[in-house]
Amino acid sequence: MQPLGSDPGPFAAPADPVAAGVRVDAALERALDRLGDELPDLGIAVGHRLIAAGDEQALDDAEARSIASMVVAVRRASGTARLVARDLMARFGHRGCAVPKTASGAPAWPAGLIGSLAHDERVAVAAVALRRSVAALGIDVEPASPLPDEVLELVATERERPVVAGEPLRARLLFAAKEAVYKAVYPLDGLFLDFHDITVDLAGRTALVTNGRRLDLRFACATHVVALAYTAAADDGPASRSGAG
Ligand SMILES: CC(C)(COP(=O)(O)OP(=O)(O)OC[C@H]1O[C@@H](n2cnc3c(N)ncnc32)[C@H](O)[C@@H]1OP(=O)(O)O)[C@@H](O)C(=O)NCCC(=O)NCCS
Repeated sequence: MQPLGSDPGPFAAPADPVAAGVRVDAALERALDRLGDELPDLGIAVGHRLIAAGDEQALDDAEARSIASMVVAVRRASGTARLVARDLMARFGHRGCAVPKTASGAPAWPAGLIGSLAHDERVAVAAVALRRSVAALGIDVEPASPLPDEVLELVATERERPVVAGEPLRARLLFAAKEAVYKAVYPLDGLFLDFHDITVDLAGRTALVTNGRRLDLRFACATHVVALAYTAAADDGPASRSGAG
């Protein structure tokens, strides 16, 4: 029998790191540090932050105007993502810069920078780099939970299906990788891509788009999975896309 008073009861608040003022998921932070260690020397900065009430106030006027949704949770997550982005941009000497959304939905970065944002219900992530080093950059974050079978049907090509069969978490990585690739290449090509327009080699950590673009992939797996897709500026010449198909 439990000692009297040890049961918090049905109305006790769940353990909530944000309520306790903690804005970092320690396990995800470690995983992102490992991801950073695996990146080539391109100066790509990646960060995260737990979403908290009030983060919607972090949107500056231009950002606030650029986000069409009036749903507080949506604006809050976008605010958190921009708090992360501002921390990262400061590392490149860009302080207090706005990252409004463009009409396409893609974020507009200050001159000289390239980046990407993502958020789920709990956490926001961002990646930022110098444009002269990195030609394409995309990030996605997903809960580290199995991808439902019906979603996998939509996401995986014939070639990818055997790789993720019986591996629902690997299927989630596949999904995140394709979303990150889409965000990386949309600002370059302005093309809507279907999941089957992108082929991912999880083991080789690369992705190929039907228009011939090749991207490198890196992953962080903890409470969430984060996928990062990028192309080095040096690798983005026409020669690198000669295998378009
Ligand atoms: C871009 C997209 C993939 C984002 O996915 P999501 O699950 O809605 O949201 P995420 O949290 O992962 O990412 C949101 C961020 O993506 C970025 N984004 C939105 N549209 C973008 C685009 N066209 N290009 C690059 N980045 C974009 C924004 O920064 C946004 O954050 P913000 O609203 O705070 O500015 C989705 O909105 C979309 O446009 N999908 C259509 C294409 C598609 O899904 N094809 C299948 C995958 S290949």
